[in-house]
Amino acid sequence: MLPQNLIEAETFARARLARVVYDYYRSGAWDETSLRRNREAFEQIDLWPRVLVDVSSRDAGTTLLGTRVSAPILAAPTAFHRLAHPDGEVATARAVAAAGSIMVLSSLSTTAVEEVVAQGATVWFQLYANKDPGITQALTDRVIAAGCKALMLTADTPVWGTRERDQRNGFRLPHGLGAPNLASLDPVGELKSRTGSAMCGAFDWMLHPALSWQELERICARSPVPVLLKGVMRGDDSARAIECGCAGVVVSNHGGRQLDGTPATIESLPKVVEAVAGRGLVLVDGGVRRGTDVLKALALGADAVQIGRPQLWGLACGGEEGVRLIFDQLARELDISMALAGCRSLTEITADLVRWRSAP
Ligand SMILES: Cc1cc2nc3c(=O)[nH]c(=O)nc-3n(C[C@H](O)[C@H](O)[C@H](O)COP(=O)(O)O)c2cc1C
Repeated sequence: MLPQNLIEAETFARARLARVVYDYYRSGAWDETSLRRNREAFEQIDLWPRVLVDVSSRDAGTTLLGTRVSAPILAAPTAFHRLAHPDGEVATARAVAAAGSIMVLSSLSTTAVEEVVAQGATVWFQLYANKDPGITQALTDRVIAAGCKALMLTADTPVWGTRERDQRNGFRLPHGLGAPNLASLDPVGELKSRTGSAMCGAFDWMLHPALSWQELERICARSPVPVLLKGVMRGDDSARAIECGCAGVVVSNHGGRQLDGTPATIESLPKVVEAVAGRGLVLVDGGVRRGTDVLKALALGADAVQIGRPQLWGLACGGEEGVRLIFDQLARELDISMALAGCRSLTEITADLVRWRSAP
């Protein structure tokens, strides 16, 4: 039996995954307030559909940084896919290619970037800037040489958020799994020596608590491919990112895994859209599980959404086919939602289709 939708996919995946892995994927930080809010806020938005529109032909396709996608639904960067399925990121990349989408590959991929790109999907690379700019540069050179078409710099991780389940479970990567995109750059050999032991310590060396706007500007100036800033929640930060040379921003609270107590990302989206004012792309992630969620995000001004955990649930349920199912289900729901709301294309998904139940 296959899951009917992305929410059910989690239940199916939970039954297949080791408890420690399921907890790592699903967890949010501390009280998981942001994690819950990301989902709940979608219910606070009403849809106001148009009727008697000829919707017999519909197209959810769009172009993002030069890549045509069949629907504005991207694979958010998520770590350690081989914990969910032995084929890991290779399976995800194949499914994303078949779905006509874009895969944002995590720095913490359990498969080397070259092997992922070889599967034929358009791949953007999620970057954690290192304290040593030489390491950041070496990593960006490598992923661009491998064929990644954009960089997505994550800004919401000056330190790791605290996920208490992982602490309780003593979450660690099993022997045989590592982070091949980073291991060769690790100056102190910490990744190699500690792979297979507790994660947080082993990956601390790559965080950059002093990452600054000046450094963002330098990264943008040096990069031959567009740079997006991921993890913004505020209008002023978003405007500044564009002024530093970013091609766009991703409204994200890291799926509720970093600072707990932020608003839902869908609540932050309108302020970011206003501040960016058409000068760059605005993507959003966090709790997107239904086609109606995608419709709401687009109506509030997003160019596209990303899905994080659902990819991992799909992988756990059935490897490449499981991820493909997730993308197909969400795209189908978006298509039906567009028809029912009287929209034939993304340009017809306008702000008048949505209204907040109570002001955010
Ligand atoms: C298990 C897991 C691993 C993640 N790893 C990364 C990562 O390596 N880099 C990153 O920028 N974001 C990472 N994220 C955050 C996602 O990119 C995304 O912001 C979030 O999952 C979206 O929320 P959703 O899971 O509710 O769709 C991760 C999220 C999860 C659940």
